[in-house]
Amino acid sequence: MRIVRAKDYEDMSRKAAAIIAAQVTLKPDCVLGLATGSTPIGTYKNLVAAYEAGDLDFSQVKTYNLDEYRGLPGDHDQSYRYFMNVNLFDHVNIDKANTHVPDGLMEDYEAACAEYDAAVAAAGHQDLQLLGIGNNGHIGFNEPCDSFIKGTHCVDLTESTIQANSRLFDSIDDVPRQAYTMGIGTIMGAKSILVVANGDAKAQAVHDMCYGPIVPSCPASILQLHPNVVVVADEAALALCPVE
Ligand code: F6R
Repeated sequence: MRIVRAKDYEDMSRKAAAIIAAQVTLKPDCVLGLATGSTPIGTYKNLVAAYEAGDLDFSQVKTYNLDEYRGLPGDHDQSYRYFMNVNLFDHVNIDKANTHVPDGLMEDYEAACAEYDAAVAAAGHQDLQLLGIGNNGHIGFNEPCDSFIKGTHCVDLTESTIQANSRLFDSIDDVPRQAYTMGIGTIMGAKSILVVANGDAKAQAVHDMCYGPIVPSCPASILQLHPNVVVVADEAALALCPVE
């Protein structure tokens, strides 16, 4: 696991975008695994700016997002499909047909989740998977639990995640209680992984991800077993990590 120290959020966002931009430049038809949440917004802004400057071409890029709230349609302003459109897809020359977000309204979800994994595999797996990390160490919506769940699945969100995400909804009662998420196996199938983190609320989770025991009570700790992970985090998020 390589740790890149960023001065602050802006610096983290520039560095993370530079890594994604390098991937797209080196392999224009790459497969990107993408994340939502507050952390990557600045990264996406930098990618849009690079596209607008003529430095990036997304025309052949395929994307697979990590997760989606169960029960939210793609045009709901808190759905992750909507987030991706507004923060990235609407502003670059990506073919929307090449962008994939789990369908929050899927009916037979076990079959649909298996199809999502099959589609990621058929695309050749993610060349680069972007991840944020939850305050509780979750990646995607793989919440702390007593086993690592391999494939894309439906998950009950923990109170801590519902609380953390309620800032984006009118009231905490509006936060969906379930979500679909790529499983740990789907994430670990990526050829390379980029984790972004900022702020002191993430410090314990970032420490446990990088230096703690590899346990499903901190899902991000599994990333220690992946051969190609870069963590780009600001000073606050790295406050509990040794300076190497
Ligand atoms: C979002 C996702 C989540 C977030 C995590 C951190 O697609 O998979 O794991 O990355 O909850 O969220 P923020 O960035 O809002 O702190």
